[in-house]
Formats: sequence, structure tokens, C-alpha cells
Amino acid sequence: MVLQNDCPKWSQAILQPAKEFNLTPLPVLAGTIPPELTGTLYRNGPGRLSIGDRRVGHWFDGDGAVLGVNFGEGKASAVYRYVQTEGYQEETAAKKFLYPNYGMTSPGGWWENLKPTFKNVANTSVLALSDRLLALWEGGFPHALDLQTLETQGKDNLAFLSHNQPFSAHPKVDSGEIFNFGIGINSKIVLHLYKCNFQGKVTQQNTFPLPYLSLIHDFVVAGDYLVFFIPPVKANFLPVMLGRKAFCDAMEWKPQLGTQVLIFDRHTLSLVSQGTTEGWFQWHYTNGYVAEDGTLIVELVRYGDLQTNQYLKEVATGKTTTKAKGTLWEVRLEPQTGKVIANTQILDRWCEFPVIDPSKVGKSWRYTYLSSHREGVNENQEILTAIAQRCLRQIARFDRQENKLVVADMGTNIYPSEPIYVPSADEPTTGWLLTVVYDGNNHSSEVRIYHSDRLDAEPICRLGLPEVIPPSFHGTWRNQ
Ligand SMILES: [Fe+2]
Repeated sequence: MVLQNDCPKWSQAILQPAKEFNLTPLPVLAGTIPPELTGTLYRNGPGRLSIGDRRVGHWFDGDGAVLGVNFGEGKASAVYRYVQTEGYQEETAAKKFLYPNYGMTSPGGWWENLKPTFKNVANTSVLALSDRLLALWEGGFPHALDLQTLETQGKDNLAFLSHNQPFSAHPKVDSGEIFNFGIGINSKIVLHLYKCNFQGKVTQQNTFPLPYLSLIHDFVVAGDYLVFFIPPVKANFLPVMLGRKAFCDAMEWKPQLGTQVLIFDRHTLSLVSQGTTEGWFQWHYTNGYVAEDGTLIVELVRYGDLQTNQYLKEVATGKTTTKAKGTLWEVRLEPQTGKVIANTQILDRWCEFPVIDPSKVGKSWRYTYLSSHREGVNENQEILTAIAQRCLRQIARFDRQENKLVVADMGTNIYPSEPIYVPSADEPTTGWLLTVVYDGNNHSSEVRIYHSDRLDAEPICRLGLPEVIPPSFHGTWRNQ
């Protein structure tokens, strides 16, 4: 597969495999680094989406590469490294793809699909523990990296994960505890729940049977509860086993199943209630909390169907044509019954990657930060334009209290990553938003720092990166 000639500017960022670089001081292109900004921004995403003239089948298939940007004393430096997974090393040596993946059937033929040989691409997110950084991928074990050099130390089972216990890419950190899950595929489909400490040591776990394999990418902490919405997506294993379909094409949209609601007690990891409601799909939740009346409030980016999966598949080709608009919704639930009381769209703007101040996890919060697309006079035309150019052109702050959106528009052909919120030590209600952008005008990448209260102003600082960083999925901030 080769990129088409009429691909939009952003596609140049994924045309060639990204280049690693050693720790490099970053030049200030504009503005000033806040002197009190001290710590490291980590981001993970698919750095290699092709080997030779072959491209991966889905954006999720690219080999993970992690960017670390260190801030301190008004200066910044960065390092960028591929996660040295076994699959990455083998395919690099062979100079060709060897493994099936989410969007790829086995290059070796149908019989290869009978073996559990999916490549752990370690490309989705990162979790900073006290002594190491974990590169996460929802289908398998994390990989441990050195916090400073990002050198890969190896696959990490956290001293408790067994063979069929993946550790998903969306752990939640609250009050010194790390919550996470993994979908186990063996003779039964199960949901593993984990609670860990910052040494990566498990302190509690539980397992819950699921009726079928769905796409469960994320969950939410809401007060004393963990909430999962299981979308009406059912994997059809047979064509995957026969090598006729990749996994991503075997995910069938079954709206008649509805969305399954699972609510667990965060203290015991035991099931509190389950219910069924109308069908929708989500990749990501913003947050959740228990309201004063005892109901649960959950915010998420909701899609009407699974077309977003096709859209993300097309990203790997450099050109997208599928319409898949996700918008911000709030769901109100009864924790004891799993019943949905209200389901409301709160922002009719195409958005993704919602994040919050990390101190607000599981608690009531005011500001949701996210990536969004430009508001157009003609919504349909704008959507078509955004699809052609990839939608996420802005980062934004949604004020839940005032129902107000403030955006930072990146400009023509400039594409931001998910914003990461860094709280200010001096002003507890404000902070900075850090985003890594690809500038398609100059074929270069930057780190941009915005004040969270002044997104519509120029960035506080723009820092040049030595190489192009392809669009990434998720990141985190670690205080020094
Ligand atoms: Fe994600």
C-alpha cells in the first residue's frame, strides 16, 4: 500500500518511519518556557507505519515510539525512542512484516492465524511508575522503559500478570491507587480488574465473565465506583482464524445488543450492578463522579456507530473518507441498578481525547480539555473538509459550568496531539496545556505550551523538535 498523491499535509508525518533521536536541547521558537514548569511530558504513538513499500492495515498497528520532553530551570530537552518489542526487532531485522495485527492478516498465510502471534506494538499510552515508565498496549503486557533514556528494559508482567492477562492502555490514577483492566481471551472472554501501587505491585484483582468479545478501550473512575460501558460490538472470530479478515474488520456493529453497563465497587473490585441501555460506541471517557443525589455522572466522547474504526483504519493510508463524528455526552446512572437515567449531548462539536486535571479523577470537575475540529458555517461541508484533512485541528477547553468552549486554533496545516494538563503549583485552578504539533507547512514538529486559562491567546512557548513526530495517541506528565 502506498500513499496517494492527493493526500493531505498531515499524511507526510506518517509517510516514512519516524527517526529516533538522543537527548537534545530544544530551541525556543517563540515565547518563554515557564520557569516553574519542572517535569517530563511523555507521549506514545505509532512511529513506524510502513516497512519498505508495505504499510500497516490500521493506524493502531504502527510500532510504538515514545517521546520524552524534560522541562526545568526554563529549559527543555527531548529524547525519542522506539519501544524495542520483540516484534519490532524481528521485523526490523527481516525488513518486512512478520506478524498479523489488529488491521492485518498474517503475512504467512491462514495457518499462521491459528497461532497467538499478534505483535505487541506497545504504542498506545504511557504510565509513569516510581522507577520506570510503562509503554502500554491493550492487547498484552506493558514494556518497561528507563524514565530518562527511554531505553527498553523489556516486557513487564508487573510480577502478577499471567499469560492471558493484558494490561490496558487507560489506567486511572486516583488517591495513590492505579486502577486498570485487561480483556482475557481464552476458553472464556473475561474482564480482569486490577488495582496497583506506584511500584507497579498489584494490591487487588478480580475477574468478571463477559458474554462476548467487544471493543473495550477505556473505563472511568466515578467516586467509589468503576464504570464500564460495553458497546454493541461483537468480534466474529471465524474469519480471523481463517485468515480471511483482520481483527478490525471482524468487529461487527450490533446495535440491537444495546450498550451494557457494568458498575464495580472500587474498594472490592466486585460487581455492584449491571444494566442495558441504548447502543452507542466510545473510545474514551473524560471522567466521572458521584453527584450530591447519589447518582453517577460520566462524561465521554460518543459515536453513533462503529464507523470511527473504519476512519482510524483509513488514517494509516494517509487519506480518510469515512465520516465518524464523536461528540461530548454526559450519562447519569443509578449505581445500585445500573440504570441510565439521562443521556445528554453537552457539546455538539467533533472532538476526541478528552482530558482533565489529574487531581480531579473520580471527582466533580469543571474543565474538560480536548482536541476538536474547527467550527464551520456549514457543518456538513466542514465535516467533509475536516475528514479530508484529518479533523483534529484545535485543542480546546470546555467549561462544564458555563457551557462555554475556548479553542486554540493551530493554524492551517498544523495538527495538535491530545493536550496534556499540567497543574500550576502556584495557582491550583489553572495550569498549562502541552501539545506536540506537526506543522505540515514546514514538515516539522513542535512542542507548544498554552496557559489553560488563555487558550485563545498565542502559546506561551513554542519549542522546535529535531525530527518529525507522527500523530500520537496518549501521554502523561511526571513531576520532577
Ligand atoms: Fe485511547
